[in-house]
Amino acid sequence: MESGTGQFVAVLDFGAQYGQLIARRVRDLHVYSELVPCDITASELAALAPAAIILSGGPASVYADDAPHVDPAIFDLGLPVLGFCYGHQIMAVTLGGEVAHAEKGEYGPAELARMGSSELLASTPGEQTVWMSHRDSVSHAPDGFTITAHTETCPVAAMECAARRLYSTQFHPEVRHTAHGRRMLENFLFGICRLEPSWTMEGIIEEKVAQIRERVGEDRVILGLSGGVDSSVVAALVHRAIGNQLTCVFVNHGFLRKGEPEMVEEVFRDQFKMPLVHVHAEERYLQLLAGVTEPEEKRRRIGTEFWKVFFEEAQRLDGVRFMAQGTIYPDIIESGARKSGGKASTIKSHHNLIPFPEGVHFDLIEPLDHFFKDEVRELGIALGLPAKMVYRQPFPGPGLAIRIIGEVTTEKLEMLRDADAVIREELDAYNEDLFAKTGDRNSEHSCWQYFAVLPDIKSVGVMGDERTYARPVILRAVESADAMTADWARLPYDVLARISGRIVGEVAGINRVVYDITPKPPATIEWE
Ligand code: XMP
Repeated sequence: MESGTGQFVAVLDFGAQYGQLIARRVRDLHVYSELVPCDITASELAALAPAAIILSGGPASVYADDAPHVDPAIFDLGLPVLGFCYGHQIMAVTLGGEVAHAEKGEYGPAELARMGSSELLASTPGEQTVWMSHRDSVSHAPDGFTITAHTETCPVAAMECAARRLYSTQFHPEVRHTAHGRRMLENFLFGICRLEPSWTMEGIIEEKVAQIRERVGEDRVILGLSGGVDSSVVAALVHRAIGNQLTCVFVNHGFLRKGEPEMVEEVFRDQFKMPLVHVHAEERYLQLLAGVTEPEEKRRRIGTEFWKVFFEEAQRLDGVRFMAQGTIYPDIIESGARKSGGKASTIKSHHNLIPFPEGVHFDLIEPLDHFFKDEVRELGIALGLPAKMVYRQPFPGPGLAIRIIGEVTTEKLEMLRDADAVIREELDAYNEDLFAKTGDRNSEHSCWQYFAVLPDIKSVGVMGDERTYARPVILRAVESADAMTADWARLPYDVLARISGRIVGEVAGINRVVYDITPKPPATIEWE
């Protein structure tokens, strides 16, 4: 396993919807944690030398034919075990307790009442709100266990056998809605397991650097840099490990926002002093998109061309054995690689998506593939990347090309880039103001993503005494947490007025600004 500190919590994944969330919460408390498949045997698990075990939730019913089981010998390893939801039930049935089918499930907040004392629940209130999501529930705790909490519909909401350091809860301490869930995890890790909170950003960097060095040896590594957060962080990390054995190839397709290509040069060439190949493919991409108006066709052409340009450059370099990639954990989920029953950390079918040309192959290095976006950002800051690069808002790979409705031309790109820069400047300032007032970066009305879209129409206006016939620009500004759903930002009128005034005043060719007031769904955030 990965932890250099020797302290590692194994989360047995029974197919919980957000299995990684548990590992994530443990890492938030600075203890290294990772998922392992639930069908791991006790001896395989012992070989990984975990300091503690957590059994995740899962969608199955413990008595279903295809229900995942746990090797009973795992409970005899002498290690502390904590089970949640399905993990609670599987611990109960494996050790001789009983689980009953309930007529009525329990989903959402529930009032938990504690019974007796419990080191797991120590320093949490006698009555508290927890998050439940289950149908079956434990009806009899195994011999030697005491029941430490119940809810109205759940007689065994928490149980433990303190002498063997086995604990479990029907509710989910890992979700934020369980008010004192963090405390319970702290109790388990630091009280019961006596672990040290030593998994810090510095620790992570040290360990990843050592792993990369060992794997790469004297070989060379290539990396496609997009200017986005993930590839930038991987570049900084791999460079920290192997210095100039890494070459970054920045394919500039010409659809980045104002100042972005310059920032890539500034950060990687000037600050980090990395070997950087800046491929000016702007003309090539414009020709590729000439006459193309269909959104999916634009995306397809841009995506395929990236790999062509990248591999052309890669083949020019001698002796490259590895290719580093900024794959992060949600990419693995999104690529549909994750299967119920665990193994999220071992299946990576998205690798097959890289269109290696005939006769070309690189071994992949993906040091971020177990991390969530905000961990990646933290890592980026710790590695010395500038905040404006690391906290960059989401930006589609095909860039401005899919924010120009219709054919992409140089003239339209310039207009869009300038209008977009005004919007970013104004709304960055608006977000900063909100932050100054609320002290909260994610305050309710801060804008999450904001940009300009250029539609393929013209309208009549008047400027000075002159009639104009020019383009409108669409302002898109949304509030969202994860891009799955979004609402249009309720921006103050004076902010809207300033944006509109500046764009028509400063950007030649634009005579009108309109605001997109559609949530997602039914609209998407992007226009194409
Ligand atoms: P939609 O438009 O589907 O976008 O509501 C959801 C989020 O995803 C971003 N987006 C992309 N990100 N490559 C990316 O890396 C893409 O091709 C892409 N298309 C959309 C979009 O900006 C929004 O944040």
